[in-house]
Amino acid sequence: MNKVCILDFGSQYTQLIARRVRELGVYAEIHPYNISLLHLKRESPQAIILSGGPQSVYEAAAPLISSEIFDLGIPVLGICYGLQLIAHLLGGRVTPAAKREYGLAHLQPLSRDGLLHNIQEGSTVWMSHGDRVSRIPPGFMITGMTPNTKAAVVEAAGRRIFGVQFHPEVAHTFEGKKILSNFLFRLCKLKPDWTMSGFIESKAAEIRRTVGRHKVIAGLSGGVDSLVACLIIHRAIGRRLLCVFVDNGLLRKGQYEELLAAFRRRYGLNVIAVDASRRFLAKLKGVVSPERKRKVIGRAFIEIFEEQAKKFKDVEFLAQGTIYPDVIESAPVKGPSATIKSHHNVGGLPPGLRFRLIEPLRELFKDEVRRLGLELGVEREFIEQHPFPGPGLAVRILGEVTAPRLAILREADEILLNEVRKAGLYSQLWQAFAVLLPVRSVGVMGDQRTYQQVVVLRLVQSLDGMTAQWFPAPADWLGRVASRIVNEVPGVNRVVYDITTKPPATIEWE
Ligand code: XMP
Repeated sequence: MNKVCILDFGSQYTQLIARRVRELGVYAEIHPYNISLLHLKRESPQAIILSGGPQSVYEAAAPLISSEIFDLGIPVLGICYGLQLIAHLLGGRVTPAAKREYGLAHLQPLSRDGLLHNIQEGSTVWMSHGDRVSRIPPGFMITGMTPNTKAAVVEAAGRRIFGVQFHPEVAHTFEGKKILSNFLFRLCKLKPDWTMSGFIESKAAEIRRTVGRHKVIAGLSGGVDSLVACLIIHRAIGRRLLCVFVDNGLLRKGQYEELLAAFRRRYGLNVIAVDASRRFLAKLKGVVSPERKRKVIGRAFIEIFEEQAKKFKDVEFLAQGTIYPDVIESAPVKGPSATIKSHHNVGGLPPGLRFRLIEPLRELFKDEVRRLGLELGVEREFIEQHPFPGPGLAVRILGEVTAPRLAILREADEILLNEVRKAGLYSQLWQAFAVLLPVRSVGVMGDQRTYQQVVVLRLVQSLDGMTAQWFPAPADWLGRVASRIVNEVPGVNRVVYDITTKPPATIEWE
C-alpha cells in the first residue's frame, strides 16, 4: 500500500492535509516534524508533505529539519511554512512579507506541466502567511504566482521537490484537491489503493496473524467506535473475540436491552452481558459532585472489566476502539499542533491489565470509522446517533443519582427524543436530551398545589462539540413537548428550555 508521511510543523490544517490525501485514495499519516530520518526511512513513504506552521523559518526557535530529507529520493511537497522551509534549507531566501496575506487570492499558473496541470487561470487559493520566499533556491522554477506573492508555486521537477505558498488542503482553495492529486498521481506516480474494503481485508489478515490461536477481549460501550472495532476483529477471528457489555443502569430507556440484542443477533458477536446497574447505583449513593460521579463510574467500569477478564485464562489481547485523533493527541513525541484534549471517556479500559493491545481503528478519522461501520453492515441510524457521554444519565441528573430520579429522567428523555424524531429534527442536531434539576418548584394540577421537579430540554447544534449553539426550536413544538412531559411523567410539574451557547456553558450540565 502506498503511504504519504506528513510532517507536522504546527499548522491548524495538518489533519486536513491527511484527510484530503486519504480522500484521494492514498493512505497518509502525520508525524511530528522532529521525527528522525532513520525513523522516517523505516516508515518507507512514497511521498512526504511538509505542513504549514505558525513560525518563521529564520527565527532562532523555528522548527527545522535536516536538509538530508531532500536526498532520500522521496518526493517532497511543502505547504506554506513547508515551502519556506524548502527555500530556507536549499539556498533560497525567506523574508517577512511587506503585507501579511490572509484570505483569498487568484493564482496565475506559469507552467502547467507539474503541480498546476489543468489548473485554471485565476483559480481561487487560500493564503495565510506573514513571510514569503523572496529568492527561490537554485534549480527551482516559479510555476505559479498571485498578485501579492511571486513565488506562490515553486518546483524542482528533476529532484521532485515542490512547494505552494497557499493551502491546497482547505476548501477555500477551489482546485486544491486537483493540485494534491497532481502531486500524488502525476508527479509521485502513486496508486489510489486506500479503500475501505481493502482496509478491512488487510486489517483482518493482520489481526489474524497477530492473534494466532489466542483470544481477544473487548469492551462494548454502546458507541460507534467500540462496535466497529469489535466487528472488524470479529471478521478476523469470529467468536474468539469476547465482548464485555456492562449495564451500568445509566443508559437511556430501553437502550441496553436493544443494544445487547443487536450485538448478538444482528452482528453475531460473542457478548458477555454484565448487569451492574445496582452496583453502580450503590456506588453513586450520596455523590453529588460532577467530578466525583465521573470518577466513581470510571472506577466501577474498570473493576467490572477486570473481574470479567480474570474469568478467561486464554485471553492474550485487549481490543480498544482508539481512533486517529486520540493517537495524535497522546503521541509521546508531539508535533506542535497536537493539543491535549481533556477528554473524560469512561469507556476507556484499565491500563494496568496485562494484555497486548489491539487497536484496529488507530489509523482512522471519525468519518472513516463511520464509513467502515457502514461497510461492515452497521445500520445508518446507529452510525448517525447523537453522542452520548460515557457516564450516561448520571451527568444529566444534577445532585444525587437515585433509582426514582433515573426513572423520571428516562421518561422525560424518551418523550423528548420521540418528538425530536417525529418533527424530523434529529439529523439537524448534534444532541438533544433532557436534564433533571435538583430543585423543586410550585405548580397546580386540578385543584391541588404541587411541589415537584424541573426538567430542562437541551437541543444544540455543533460541528465538533467544541462549540455549540442552542437550537431555536419552534414554539408550538416546545409547548407540545413540555405539555407531554408534565402530563405523562409523574413527579415533574415544570419544563424549561436551555438557551445558552457553548461557551460559556457546556453542552452537558455536568
Ligand atoms: P461538553 O459537555 O463538555 O461536551 O460541552 C462536549 C461533548 O462531549 C460529550 N461528553 C462526554 N463524552 N464522556 C464522553 O464520552 C464524558 O464524560 C463526556 N462529557 C461530555 C458531550 O455529550 C458532548 O457531545
